[in-house]
Amino acid sequence: MPAEAAARRVAELREALELHNHRYYVLDDPLISDAEYDALLRELEQLEAAHPELASADSPTMRVGAAPAEQFATVIHRAPMLSLGNVFDAGEFEDFYARVATELESDTVEFAVEAKLDGLAISLTYEAGRLVRAATRGDGTHGEDVTANVRTIRAIPLRLRGAEAPALIEVRGEIFMDKAGFTALNERQAAAGLKTFANPRNAAAGSLRQLDPAVTASRPLTMYCYGIGALEGGPALDTQAGTLDYLGALGLRVSRDSRVVSGCAACIAFYEDMAARRAALPYEIDGIVYKVNARSAQDRLGHVARAPRWAVAFKFPPDERETRVLAIDVQVGRTGALTPVARLQPVFVGGVTITNATLHNADEIARKDVRVGDTVVVRRAGDVIPEIVRVVLDKRPPDTAPYELPSTVPDQERARLVQAIIHFASRRALDIEGLGAKIVEQLVTSGLVTAPDDLYRLEAETLSGLERMAEKSAANLVEAIARSRATTLARFVYALGIREVGEATAANLARRFGSLERIAQASVEALEDVDDIGPVVAASIHDWFADPANAALVERLRDAGVHWEEGVASGAADGAQPLTGLGCVLTGTLSAMTRDEAKHRLQALGAKVSGAVSKKTSLVIAGAEAGSKLAKAEALGVPVLDEAAFLGLLDDPASVSRWLPPPPTA
Ligand code: IVH
Repeated sequence: MPAEAAARRVAELREALELHNHRYYVLDDPLISDAEYDALLRELEQLEAAHPELASADSPTMRVGAAPAEQFATVIHRAPMLSLGNVFDAGEFEDFYARVATELESDTVEFAVEAKLDGLAISLTYEAGRLVRAATRGDGTHGEDVTANVRTIRAIPLRLRGAEAPALIEVRGEIFMDKAGFTALNERQAAAGLKTFANPRNAAAGSLRQLDPAVTASRPLTMYCYGIGALEGGPALDTQAGTLDYLGALGLRVSRDSRVVSGCAACIAFYEDMAARRAALPYEIDGIVYKVNARSAQDRLGHVARAPRWAVAFKFPPDERETRVLAIDVQVGRTGALTPVARLQPVFVGGVTITNATLHNADEIARKDVRVGDTVVVRRAGDVIPEIVRVVLDKRPPDTAPYELPSTVPDQERARLVQAIIHFASRRALDIEGLGAKIVEQLVTSGLVTAPDDLYRLEAETLSGLERMAEKSAANLVEAIARSRATTLARFVYALGIREVGEATAANLARRFGSLERIAQASVEALEDVDDIGPVVAASIHDWFADPANAALVERLRDAGVHWEEGVASGAADGAQPLTGLGCVLTGTLSAMTRDEAKHRLQALGAKVSGAVSKKTSLVIAGAEAGSKLAKAEALGVPVLDEAAFLGLLDDPASVSRWLPPPPTA
């Protein structure tokens, strides 16, 4: 094709593809079939290949162009990305409404109401209509540059539509995965033997924060836009509803569930209406966002710390569903303790499919009187473990009997040993890479391992005889086991699997006593004197070391070469660890770990973790949607670490000094 004709056809194809992209991904209203779309795209690809001079970064063929990155660059947001205050019931919402109405001196305030999507906040910068940057929220001022990944999301135009693109616009919105996309992704992951995601929010966050844009491209991400961070050369927008209309007119995807409502009762009615529709919506929402509609009123109300005073999120209560108890199984833990687990008819609740729920222990079963065959209400909120809330007695079949937890189960010792070895080898214990549950099962069943010290006598030849164990991995495993001989006292104590002794307690013990002998010989009183150790834990530790079989195990492990550096016993306030003496407060939601895990990691480094911010607090770790604690920290000038900074601190605890005020100079 002559160059001129090619240029014309390329322009035509790009325009057509942009139109169909918009119809399909933004408006959910395609005009042509997928096959027709693919044919146009292929034609464009071929023309661009034949005429490299026609290449353009905004071409619909250029969504996955970039090579994998080493890390994400930091972006400073033009205007801070704020978060939202929360209310949890109608009473709290009424208080919010009353405050706003009083300050605006008006009885009926007009609100733009929107679904609160459960994904992650993003900022998109378009210059002269071209997408030039996409950044995550980060700590609100500094985000991560995820442009290459965001370009792969087809609901996000590379070029704005409409004749008059503003000189610059920074669009704010939420990237998320809809329910169908999430389910399909998890099915694909499972079929490929890859890890599945707990919920659409984690899946979206994990998919966007990929160093390889090709991975992001394969994930079903989409976006709704809900605000503007900066606008140059655009119209004056005097309401939130007008802002949403403008975003839509630029070809950006805007939710159709937004409304303008006046007065408190109408606000609450919208909430109730959406709560009723929630399960049927194609995507997860976790509440309703109310934004004072008039820009002038927003400006009058202003904002505090990180949240506007003119907006609030009214959160939905945790999702609850009914399902049936198919069976109650008993699981054996590493200490031999038996835990009853209800096997449930699979049910989708709180964004995940639940098939099991722990019943904890005999007391819990008795209290809830859960029986096989019962219909139960299960609940799950956020990242919390699913739980059985109650039995629906009306639906109990006539022939059920109260469940009795057996005191032993067949094969119990073998099952205990498997769990004990898995625990011993786990990442926070002796960290033996490659020693997974499947291999441990085989080692125990075949009698090759009857106690943890047997691991140190395994040879590559023996291991390569196991199922799914190639020669190379057998050699690697033997090497990983050998490496684990050099450890720390805290890890070793944790690895022993003493009942009630988690990572933080093990670290406290190691710090206080300095040597294994001193821990083993400590009196119950001396143990109780350690941070976070009460009478139950103290007794458990004391009893464990008093058992000659356990003393023998420790001896055998030392004989096998497991060693660590012994320290000196330290008082409670000794500065042996990087974070000793620091008071930390956790707030908001972290994506990499639960708050509990974060707490234990901090404690393991010597920090004290408390629930309230005061001027004595040394550090506040703020995850997503941090609220009043964050505001207080900022008001008091307490250093605040976002999740990325916190993960950096865990990797390199000595770097903590960066966050602390310099020591007073003499
Ligand atoms: S507005 C001006 N609108 O919720 C306040 N946020 O808790 C800025 N979110 O970081 C947020 N849907 O990730 C706003 N319709 C919506 C939203 C929404 C979800 C998320 C967003 C934000 C968080 C705040």
